[in-house]
Amino acid sequence: MGNTQHEQVVVIDFGGQYNQLVARRVRECSVYCGIYSYRTPLKDILDMNPKGIILTGGPDSVYAPGAASCSKELFSSGIPVLGLCYGAQLMMHVLGGEVTRAPEREYGKTEVMIDEPKSALFQGIDSPTICWMSHNDYISKLAPGFRVTAHTKNCPAAAVEDEQRNLYAFQFHPEVLHTKYGSAMLQHFVRDICGCSGDWRMDDFAEKTIAALKEKIGGGKVLCALSGGVDSSVAAVLLSRAVGKNLTCVFVDHGLLRKNEGDMVEEVFGKNGAYDLNFIRVNAQHRFYVRLAGVDEPERKRKIIGEEFIRVFEEEAKKIGAVDYLVQGTIYPDVVESGLGGESATIKSHHNVGGLPDYVDFKEIVEPLRDLFKDEVRKVGLHLGIPEKLVMRQPFPGPGLGIRIVGDVTMDKVRIVQDSDAIFREEMEKAGLDKAADQYYAALTNLRTVGVMGDERTYDYAVALRAVSTIDFMTAEVTEIPYDVLKTVMNRIINEVDHVNRVFYDITSKPPATIEME
Ligand code: XMP
Repeated sequence: MGNTQHEQVVVIDFGGQYNQLVARRVRECSVYCGIYSYRTPLKDILDMNPKGIILTGGPDSVYAPGAASCSKELFSSGIPVLGLCYGAQLMMHVLGGEVTRAPEREYGKTEVMIDEPKSALFQGIDSPTICWMSHNDYISKLAPGFRVTAHTKNCPAAAVEDEQRNLYAFQFHPEVLHTKYGSAMLQHFVRDICGCSGDWRMDDFAEKTIAALKEKIGGGKVLCALSGGVDSSVAAVLLSRAVGKNLTCVFVDHGLLRKNEGDMVEEVFGKNGAYDLNFIRVNAQHRFYVRLAGVDEPERKRKIIGEEFIRVFEEEAKKIGAVDYLVQGTIYPDVVESGLGGESATIKSHHNVGGLPDYVDFKEIVEPLRDLFKDEVRKVGLHLGIPEKLVMRQPFPGPGLGIRIVGDVTMDKVRIVQDSDAIFREEMEKAGLDKAADQYYAALTNLRTVGVMGDERTYDYAVALRAVSTIDFMTAEVTEIPYDVLKTVMNRIINEVDHVNRVFYDITSKPPATIEME
């Protein structure tokens, strides 16, 4: 568990919503950081030989029956510990302090007064400073040995520490970007308190991984389902550098890709591309359309697309013959969200249609990116020379346009969405807004309405534009695109795409909506 040759800071997850962010911020300090559930035995944590431990926030109250907890020994292991929000309260509670319901809940950006500017965590940070608060309970009595290092108007112990024992606690969330100097505070913890030198860097990740893959796979045969998304592309290039022609990449074009996407993937990875890969493009559009005909129930559509993908892949794998290894583009959030790492398993888990079964005759699954966050995968991709256009692209769901066409899928509808979406993307790029939204697309509502074009009555489809800003794709807000851009997109779609006579702009946040339509 958690074995790495790198210095490691361990995040103990109590179920808070920002927990992956804690690990990301630590990694931004060039320090490897893994997330583990609070249920992980202390011995397993200590066996990983961490340089520091961070206790995250969480939804519980420390005094609620069955509340998530940790053992007292954690704090006497000699390893520096930083508690955040619930983690801070728990540290106090376990070590003999008191936590009670605060007279006033604190939520949002809050002014924090630093009482001990010499505290190692506040070096170079002027008081007052702005921090992100989100708590109902607060520390009402310090545990023996601690002193207050910062407070707010409503929270007398916003930061506390016991320097002798290397124990630190913040009631606020340094991992949230709204905490102005949160990254600096975490950097002080991992570098100055834990003494990490910062040996986690993406530029040598690629070389080290390629060497390790070479050694592991030797002359074995490797198969990769390449979707053209950033994760599978980076995984494929790493493998190709390690095993060369012993790698075969299968790209299944299910006819539900964005406009020209299949050709773009082939251009990069196919026989005229920069990588000397065995690349197989399977044009399976027709069989997907046949299976999807008349099906309008969203989950049924997802299942059909997933199953059919697997069937196509299976057929190709059989043609290739005995394969030793199967490559998956699993990344760290997939590992955490599927319950193998932290505590956040139950929120939502998404599957790529590339979630492949064990029908192929292979010895092992190879997941070279399973320790990385998306932004780290992107850095590796750029380092490997994969075109920026591909590396920086927005997430695209495995079931593709199938879940952006509300109701049953037909070839005509796919064409409408592809063309509308291409116009939307083009205009966003022209306006310099393509990075303003974390994900944006055009979808086809299943709604037909009456319109007038020229002097003629029309009865045509309504296209919906959606653009969202999000940190983790679990919650999202509408991205406010200027009206002139929206109007240009609307005009072009109406004029250039047949059978569309209305364009909507979806301003719903998630929740209550989801990012995709289905
Ligand atoms: P929702 O619609 O649940 O989407 O708000 C959240 C994020 O996940 C993506 N998504 C998927 N990705 N396979 C994927 O690989 C899927 O089945 C899938 N469904 C949704 C979606 O595009 C958004 O980024």
